[in-house]
Amino acid sequence: MKPLVWVTFADPVPGLRARVARRPRRDVDGILCLLTDRIDLTRFPKLRAVANVAVGYDNIDVAEARRRGIVVTNTPGVLTEATADLAFGLMLAAARRIVEGDRFMRSGKFRGWGFHMLRGTEVHGKRLAIVGMGRIGKAVARRARGFGMRVTTDWRRADFVSIHVPLTARTRHMIDPFAMKRGAILVNTARGPVVQERRLIRALNSGHLSAAGVDVYEFEPRTALTRLPNVVCAPHIGSATEETRQAMLRLAIRNLNAALAGRNPPNRV
Ligand code: GLV
Repeated sequence: MKPLVWVTFADPVPGLRARVARRPRRDVDGILCLLTDRIDLTRFPKLRAVANVAVGYDNIDVAEARRRGIVVTNTPGVLTEATADLAFGLMLAAARRIVEGDRFMRSGKFRGWGFHMLRGTEVHGKRLAIVGMGRIGKAVARRARGFGMRVTTDWRRADFVSIHVPLTARTRHMIDPFAMKRGAILVNTARGPVVQERRLIRALNSGHLSAAGVDVYEFEPRTALTRLPNVVCAPHIGSATEETRQAMLRLAIRNLNAALAGRNPPNRV
């Protein structure tokens, strides 16, 4: 008999070699889930594999999965370029105050070109620190070189800091905004808790940081960052392109098929 898989979301799952349950059932062999699903492994005694449709997997207790011999997989690679594009877009938008400009236009206050109007920060030639030189970090660095930026890993002395580490016990609150260079701009497309949001807000309010571009939040979906004019906020859309989301789903299904067939999946974590 085909294995039983709990698919936590409503989309079609073409190519999944399993019977599909759209609700959690105790007898499932596998789970196909999203990063917003906190999976309680203890509820599923027969569980053999969990395929996350995401590169991050901090929503799954991997140590517990290992203890119980449950295979956990993620979807690296396919979302690298889309996420790097968004990180770069947030950096440009925050530095050049594009969203503030858009709000200004829509408010009907634009009365013509102004010498002092909406002055931002130059991006070209600046120092960009990449925190986490993995696939996505490297893809951001490639873009930065095209903008004539100097790429470093020293986030304390950089003009721009872009975060690309996974969320672990070691990376939680690892970036202290007040330890960054005065006037710097922070970009976070990784996971919110890498930066303590309360301190980020204080640093932005006090002028220690000049701006931020943020896609992920410490207490997602709640955040007070939206109250600050010098923050460009995106709703966790790093990988949200049609092409990338389809590729993530395809890869997660491949991973789950392999794991449930007793083969080594391409992306075991
Ligand atoms: C998105 O945040 C992901 O981890 O894929």
